[in-house]
Amino acid sequence: MHKTVHLIAAARPNFMKVAPVYRLLAREDWCRPVFIHTGQHYDFGMSDVFLRDLELPAPDIHLGVGSGSHAEQTAGVMIAYERVCTENAPDFVLVVGDVNSTLACTLAAKKLCLPVGHLEAGLRSWDRRMPEELNRIVTDALADILWTPSIDADENLLREGVAPERIRRVGNVMMDAFELMRPKIEAESVAADLGLRLREFGVVTLHRPSNVDDRDTLSFIVERLISASHRLPLVFSMHPRTRKWLEHFGLMQSLVAAESIRLNEPMGYVQFMSLVKDARLVITDSGGVQGETSYLGIPCLTLRENTEQPVTLTQGSNRLVSPGGLDGALDDALSGRWEVRGVPELWDGRTAGRVVDDLRALLGAE
Ligand code: UD1
Ligand code: UDP
Repeated sequence: MHKTVHLIAAARPNFMKVAPVYRLLAREDWCRPVFIHTGQHYDFGMSDVFLRDLELPAPDIHLGVGSGSHAEQTAGVMIAYERVCTENAPDFVLVVGDVNSTLACTLAAKKLCLPVGHLEAGLRSWDRRMPEELNRIVTDALADILWTPSIDADENLLREGVAPERIRRVGNVMMDAFELMRPKIEAESVAADLGLRLREFGVVTLHRPSNVDDRDTLSFIVERLISASHRLPLVFSMHPRTRKWLEHFGLMQSLVAAESIRLNEPMGYVQFMSLVKDARLVITDSGGVQGETSYLGIPCLTLRENTEQPVTLTQGSNRLVSPGGLDGALDDALSGRWEVRGVPELWDGRTAGRVVDDLRALLGAE
């Protein structure tokens, strides 16, 4: 009898976490992986491009939930996913990351007493103004199995009273996606195609509500980015949330007028990683990008007050930078005063294998 494992993806960063596990599970003769897309992200450039780039099949089930307020989106996913589970209960539910759909599917599944595993568990920014922090806390409180990326995550969970046997350190699955796609990424030459020279440009991504939803904050960031672009050409991959607020606050014109900032639609994974790998530095507030730049040893200027991945500050190439501190950080990065410390333990491209080994044992398939 095949065991059915639901793999839940919802938003851009989820596809990179699901793809390596899906690929391995699909080869196991005891398992039938079911790929479920909640539809939280739906633009081609935020969703389907990743299925293509990561060689994922079309979702077996698409919940089509779309955008909304936090409550609307979370409730929408819960209602739709509960229906799926009621009609056909899986043997296991695997959720990833910290988006609203991660929490919604965990809650719906646990209310039906289904076993849930959380991949990328235990991360904490200690900032409860961040919607993701609430999603992480609740998901980890409910999930049965907590697959963590780093030792700080284990410690956070133990401090919250989680029983040690629920915690399994497996490493960062984003590195698996990178290694799987490395040949394709290395075959691309996105920087050259954009007329940029190796290591002579920076990449920008922003989408955290704390940076982009507030007029004064976003306006100051735009001003600082334009100033930075006089020293280093920038490629700005623009998240739809950011585009929406830039347009709403009337800030788009000054960016369009900035000669050394290239504005781009969100890029597919292979294109984006090709660009990051060749960049001098990255300016971001993304969670995933902090890990990827650390893995690649690219200076990462994180425009945030905190991070749920402190390991990238102590072992990677990441620094927290305020918008006002961007100039100084740029001085350091451009003059080589930037510590690139190495790669955290178990960020080795074999994380998905550890998860699958664990699932095989958990589901009694060996
Ligand atoms: C979500 C996650 C965030 C994650 C990010 C990855 C939550 C609370 N937030 O943030 O943790 O870092 O995804 O990118 O789960 N939109 C589009 N097209 C799309 C998707 C969104 O235009 O395909 C626009 C809509 O105007 C939408 C807004 O972006 O209202 C925000 O989308 P949403 O999924 O709610 O949050 P993100 O900011 O994308
Ligand atoms: N990413 C991408 N194209 C882009 C920007 C980001 O492929 O234009 C990838 C990036 O490499 C990382 C993931 O998207 O793997 C991170 O997603 P995002 O920043 O949206 O979410 P977060 O990690 O902050 O939750």
